[in-house]
Amino acid sequence: MNSFNRLAVVISLATLFPLSAYAAAPADSKGTVEVVHWWTSGGEAKAVEVLKKLIEKDGYTWQDSAVAGGGGAAAMTVLKTRAVSGNPPSAAQIKGPDIQDWAALGLLTNVDEVAKANKWDTLLSKTVSDTMKYDGHYVAVPVNIHRVNWLWTNPEVFKKAGIDKPPTTLEELYAAGDKLKAAGFIPLAHGGQPWQDSTVFEDMVLSIMGPEGYKKAFIEHDEKTLTGPQMTEVFTNLKKLQSYMDPDGTGQDWNLEAAKVINGKAGMQIMGDWAKSEWAAAGKKAGTDFECVPFPGTQGSFTYNIDSLAMFKLAKAKDTAGNRAAQNDVAKVALEPEFQYVFNQNKGSIPVRGDLDMSKFDSCGQASAKDFAAAGKSGSQLPSMAHNMATSLAVQGAIFDVVTNFMSDKNADPAKAGKQLASAIKAAQ
Ligand code: BGC
Repeated sequence: MNSFNRLAVVISLATLFPLSAYAAAPADSKGTVEVVHWWTSGGEAKAVEVLKKLIEKDGYTWQDSAVAGGGGAAAMTVLKTRAVSGNPPSAAQIKGPDIQDWAALGLLTNVDEVAKANKWDTLLSKTVSDTMKYDGHYVAVPVNIHRVNWLWTNPEVFKKAGIDKPPTTLEELYAAGDKLKAAGFIPLAHGGQPWQDSTVFEDMVLSIMGPEGYKKAFIEHDEKTLTGPQMTEVFTNLKKLQSYMDPDGTGQDWNLEAAKVINGKAGMQIMGDWAKSEWAAAGKKAGTDFECVPFPGTQGSFTYNIDSLAMFKLAKAKDTAGNRAAQNDVAKVALEPEFQYVFNQNKGSIPVRGDLDMSKFDSCGQASAKDFAAAGKSGSQLPSMAHNMATSLAVQGAIFDVVTNFMSDKNADPAKAGKQLASAIKAAQ
């Protein structure tokens, strides 16, 4: 059963369950908007607070329904349960092709009026606006563009280990790992959770196969690519990279691993630029306290991850003019410059509208915006598989399982992993 059918079965049980009410709002509130998201690390929470404050300034009540768990798998489970019980939130962090699945079930509402009044069609690139639309109608609002293929380094730790610059090739990455290890540091901070394993895996696919191979593997699911010799090379390199990963990283959250690089216990982390939110929250400066470089071998490509808030049809008991206005206010505020600047500076991402002044951003933000535009021209803006942008959640889950099983098996055979990947993807489609 594919993800759409699975979701449909879950949702069709919806009428069997009772509704629950919003938490009590202050007497002078114009309406309440409840938002499900997974921005719970220190830096992420600081970023989402920006939206909350702006909504409150407009006289509405923000009901925060944060579900901890990087990558969002736990939040998605909660969201499905909420939909099953006929009690969806007003808005939820849903991304990429998944937006279409929720909309096809008739669960999302359109925010065309807000979009029209605020000229979203002219503000957003077509790739972004198409993702936010179902059947020609806006059902979600994008808030940012994250780049996934980054490597974060601590220059002070590098210096102590005798490394003069961040690695740009896989060979340099392994050489840096050896030096860091020899100097007593954790070479690579990494939390062994499926989405983190697959974030590194997709970087490795891009590094070894290039943008065309990446598309063949993760968008076309081309069997030859999935089972070919380059995929064996990818898994062989993944095993090698694993030998540099934090031995205490099993099951660790990404932000706790980021803290090890920030605190000088580890030298590097492979992570999307939400990692920068932790550096920023710790008061650290790009270019001096930390450096960001594309994952070695992926220079010129940009794996993107666009966070967006999908808008739900409100359950009858909550479907009041005030609550609908609160929902529309989130849609409106999310694309306004004030929010886009402050939220994205805190979040580590870049604005999703292209007309803002990037000189307000740090060197990593500026590099990201420049690389995004260049990758657009060269055909190497690539949707992140690990962050729900490239495939259905069912196919993504199948890939996660193969990658994580491979990483947890000391004797796993890189030559067999590609075949397992191909058949797992086929079964999930
Ligand atoms: C989301 C980011 C979030 C990260 C870690 C990604 O999938 O797009 O907004 O910061 O997961 O939780």
